[in-house]
Amino acid sequence: MSKHILGILCSGRGSNMQSIMAAIESGQIKAEIGIVLTDKPEARALQVASEAGIKSVCVNRKACASQQEFEEKLVAELKAANVTLVVLAGFMRILSPYFVDAYRHQILNIHPSLLPSFGGAHAHRDVLAYGTKVSGCTIHFVDEGMDHGPIILQDTVPVLDGDTEETLAARVLEKEHILYPRAIELFVDGRLELLDDRHVRIKE
Ligand code: GRF
Repeated sequence: MSKHILGILCSGRGSNMQSIMAAIESGQIKAEIGIVLTDKPEARALQVASEAGIKSVCVNRKACASQQEFEEKLVAELKAANVTLVVLAGFMRILSPYFVDAYRHQILNIHPSLLPSFGGAHAHRDVLAYGTKVSGCTIHFVDEGMDHGPIILQDTVPVLDGDTEETLAARVLEKEHILYPRAIELFVDGRLELLDDRHVRIKE
């Protein structure tokens, strides 16, 4: 079986990308990173990837005339790099059905809450405002809905008295760095079975 080639999309810091790089390095994930793409030239992930010798390209959303043009450029880069699994790691853009269709069932996302609760861009703020006692993170396949596709893995953290967005985010991020590599490992090892448009079974 030929190795999966990952295309990682980031908008900022890229710490999840780094946890994936480390998991490849250690042999946990038997895949390679073909390309790292960002939508912003200032994304730290670009620098981290190029320092690691990984091809990295910014497709500047602001320089594109339309969402369609932006996504066509992303897909062209991914196809040129022979990407077989698209990994959204802190990519803060909603993707249209055009993109989802180009990599149907081959796009993963991480979200820092227990979906379907607290989707959207301000998960930690919304968790604290609501007053839930647990939060966590979710890895899911991407479909046409926002933070919506079938769930692969979730893990929880407590929400503590006195938590701020920063303290809660840091606690969740520790879990993210374990969970995302694990989900990618399951995908590349062929252990994820999509039963229908909501249910993922993890094969033994
Ligand atoms: C993570 O919390 C991720 O769940 C969310 O954005 C953050 C990105 O962090 N979607 P990083 O860029 O991976 O450090």
